[in-house]
Amino acid sequence: MVPYKHEALTDFTKEENQMAFKEALKKVEGELGKEYPLRIAGEHVFTNEKIISFNPANKNEVIGFVSKTDRALAEKAIVSAAQTFESWRKVKAEVRADILFKAAAIVRRRKHEFSAYLVKEAGKPWIEADADTAEGIDFMEYYGRQILKLKDGAPVQSRQGEYNRYSYIPLGVGVVISPWNFAFAIMAGTTVAALVSGNTVLLKPASTTPVVAAKFVEVLEEAGLPKGVLHFIPGSGSEVGDYLVDHPQTRFISFTGSRDVGTRIYERAAKVNEGQIWLKRVIAEMGGKDTIVVDKEADLDLAAQSIVASAFGFAGQKCSACSRAVVVEDVYDQVLQKTIELTKNLHVGDPTHFQHTVGPVIDQAAFAKILNYIEIGKQEGRLNVGGIGDSEKGFFVQPTIFSDLEPEARIMQEEIFGPVVAFCKAKDFNEALMIANNTDYGLTGSVISTNREHIEKAREDFHVGNLYINRGCTGAVVGYQPFGGFNMSGTDSKAGGPDYLLLHMQAKTVSEAL
Ligand code: NAD
Ligand code: ALA
Repeated sequence: MVPYKHEALTDFTKEENQMAFKEALKKVEGELGKEYPLRIAGEHVFTNEKIISFNPANKNEVIGFVSKTDRALAEKAIVSAAQTFESWRKVKAEVRADILFKAAAIVRRRKHEFSAYLVKEAGKPWIEADADTAEGIDFMEYYGRQILKLKDGAPVQSRQGEYNRYSYIPLGVGVVISPWNFAFAIMAGTTVAALVSGNTVLLKPASTTPVVAAKFVEVLEEAGLPKGVLHFIPGSGSEVGDYLVDHPQTRFISFTGSRDVGTRIYERAAKVNEGQIWLKRVIAEMGGKDTIVVDKEADLDLAAQSIVASAFGFAGQKCSACSRAVVVEDVYDQVLQKTIELTKNLHVGDPTHFQHTVGPVIDQAAFAKILNYIEIGKQEGRLNVGGIGDSEKGFFVQPTIFSDLEPEARIMQEEIFGPVVAFCKAKDFNEALMIANNTDYGLTGSVISTNREHIEKAREDFHVGNLYINRGCTGAVVGYQPFGGFNMSGTDSKAGGPDYLLLHMQAKTVSEAL
């Protein structure tokens, strides 16, 4: 087997790649407005009620009509998933892995098409969409290889007269609930991790991005996933989500999304309901309030570039996005000025066009929430650039910088999930780290410094699941930077890491007397 290597990103400086991407956009534009069925108990199910998916850059453009699951259909799906588990759990790990490798190959062949759907449905600029698709491919390639490492369990000792074996077996029916911001990568990654570990899955994608998820389900079918192993059940989070989280046949929940929903799921899953014979397992990866710390001994251009890329990439709609820059006072004005200059060069607009490197935010609710935080920011600090939005055609918010914030300010503490970054001054590096750690979250962080002692201090004391030194705080790569956060950022599952699949399995010891 070829060793795992992450999927190369597309070089859009090459004319032929630009042309190929434009072709894919054209293909996708020709397919807009199609209907997509649910997959329940191996059947395609069309319902009368639909989720309508819109283009956030052009709110009159419908991406697709996706059938909507109600409780009765969710019940049918979970009963079927529990039955199919009895056969799927016995399918050899090699066969399950082969399905992932095949699915990765199919997506790789149709890479620009998937990315074009992300441009249209999630409002991703080309480069961000390309990275999202590549990450999804990586998850399939990586987890396929991981299960081959885990399939024979782990070594244990045997005494004379006995033979002991320690193996990992799947859990059962998993409910996978995914967010819209990595509408392909996280949706696909969380689904295939559960499947390749031998579980059957109910996939509930985010209601703003169900079409790209429907396309991925088609790929898994083409790759040979047996019927009834994966049930595709888009639907209302509160109706279908709560029902399945509470269901006695749900064995585990793999959730990625907001803190509010994640903590609700964690709490509900803890209750043992009638007919339930296990304690549910919950993987919950939630929000962030991520900080770039800039030391006085640092490459200040790198600092400004890192802040801009991490704060405004995908319009700040990443759990890993930089929403706070904490800068030591000696260099504060310089870093702020450089960041403002770079921000003024960003092009906001419909991401169908390559030159628009900042696209829309996902929907009206996000637009309103971000503008509300901008009003709060105006009370709490100084507005340097941006601060306006335009929702006439799509949901566009100008990249926004606030400076001179107090560490306790709301825009320093609450997840905004939009293109807004707050600058805060620290008297020295120690104070900067204290401010960075002063949050309920603990997902990503970065330190820009040339001072070795300070770098080593950050390694020990900057309390985040993913810490970066002298680079931005977004863009973790599967297999290279396993991803997951501390504190209210979640259960630190470390997606794309060597321990991730074990969260979807349980260990069994068999001791035979000889
Ligand atoms: P969200 O919590 O609104 O929705 C996530 C999913 O939960 C969706 O599929 C939604 O339909 C579903 N849902 C809603 N209510 C539910 C309920 N009561 N029961 C079950 N499911 C329910 O989050 P979002 O807006 O899609 O995503 C943005 C959030 O996700 C941000 O907070 C971001 O930081 C976080 N996020 C975290 C990570 C990570 O790895 N830590 C990665 C991506 C996004
Ligand atoms: N894995 C994504 C990143 O690191 C969220 O930016």
